Amino acid sequence: MSEWTSASWQSRPVRHQPEYPDAAALAEAAGELASFPPLVTSWEIEALKQQLGEAATGSRFLLQGGDCAESFAECTSSVIINKLKILLQMSLVLVHGTHRRVIRVGRFAGQYAKPRSESTETRDGVELTSYYGDIVNRPDFEARGRTPDPWRMLRGYERSALTLNFIRSLIDGGFADLHHPEYWELDFVQHSPRAAEFHAIVESIGESLRFMETLSGISVADISRVDFYTSHEGLLLPYEAALTREVPRRRGWYNLSTHFPWIGMRTASLDEAHVEFFRGIRNPIAIKMGPSLEPAAMQPFLNRLMDTLHPDDEPGRLTLIHRYGADEVAEFLPALIDGVKATGRTVLFVCDPMHGNTRKTEAGIKTRRFDDILRELEQAIEIHKACGSTLGGVHFELTGENVTECTGGARGLTDEDLKDGYRSLVDPRLNYEQALEMAMLIARRLSIKPEQT
Ligand code: PEP
Ligand code: CO
Repeated sequence: MSEWTSASWQSRPVRHQPEYPDAAALAEAAGELASFPPLVTSWEIEALKQQLGEAATGSRFLLQGGDCAESFAECTSSVIINKLKILLQMSLVLVHGTHRRVIRVGRFAGQYAKPRSESTETRDGVELTSYYGDIVNRPDFEARGRTPDPWRMLRGYERSALTLNFIRSLIDGGFADLHHPEYWELDFVQHSPRAAEFHAIVESIGESLRFMETLSGISVADISRVDFYTSHEGLLLPYEAALTREVPRRRGWYNLSTHFPWIGMRTASLDEAHVEFFRGIRNPIAIKMGPSLEPAAMQPFLNRLMDTLHPDDEPGRLTLIHRYGADEVAEFLPALIDGVKATGRTVLFVCDPMHGNTRKTEAGIKTRRFDDILRELEQAIEIHKACGSTLGGVHFELTGENVTECTGGARGLTDEDLKDGYRSLVDPRLNYEQALEMAMLIARRLSIKPEQT
């Protein structure tokens, strides 16, 4: 394999990158970014990698979730707090159901770039660059705003830093303390159809904590402290490369823009720029696996993938996020699991039940059915069991806000209801109630009963 550098991706074909009209401005913005302090540290990255390694062998469980795309405008106190709250609540439900420690990873503090199937968009005969996410351009259909602006990378870096700073302060200040789940109760939890069930779980965890503390005579502060890690699709390579550094006293290069970057399905080709870039970073990384790769082509792909991205079989290094859709998971997933087994490597398998289940309503609104999402997850859990493997995590597009973007759930949202609170500029997210309900419905199915371990 040729030598890796933080710029070696530039000699490979690259997809889903904006065309910046001013190369000098791009170089200047990237140079400034490269001089700024990192957003995360290699210590945190290594700690997460170790935990992901434990999830791969079944002793922990990954909960990864957040917006399809964060927006600069929603970098606000309440949106960030609500996202933390829903992830904390879901994680509590999953701990309770699975008896595994849950690793919480947000799709936040950097999830600002989106792949686009068309590089331009035409309306009434006017053709403009597609919206590539706030880190690249503006969503409004207007020539200036749609022109890719490299200085927006700095705005994205700043928003990520603001988000992270607030999250870290909240966590350090005791916001996520398991002794005080009332801190992270959302206003509308009382009105949720599943409120009573959630409160019963919280009460039982509280009792367990008190029991252990009484029994041992010590406070379980260490156990009750929770961590949050960040992740985003490592799509915009000039941004990712500018924050990729060598660090003192460690070997190799770290992408310090996030703990856990992933490669999207559209940029996962082995000979192209994204895989080349990811090959050389020491972060735990994930790759999305979708139905564009036929079962017959799976084994040769996986063999090469492992040699390129996971050559040392390092615990926690590689996560495969499968997103086949409820109708296709039964056809594709066994081939993926068996194919990985044949390579002799250990990976963490995570199910993203969102991206294979997108549909359009008659009115042309992009949505997903709660039942399709659940159906894919249930099948994934069973298929892993049947193949002697473990589903080690879930990946959701969700929000702590009361939006109406996905249909179904306990409140039975219909296609007609979507117009009431549809805010996403890209993919539809589970709202607060739907996300919590989903966690409750899958928690029990994920439990490893002692006789099975
Ligand atoms: C996403 O996670 O928002 C996304 C675009 O997913 P995928 O690459 O799986 O299509
Ligand atoms: Co999405």
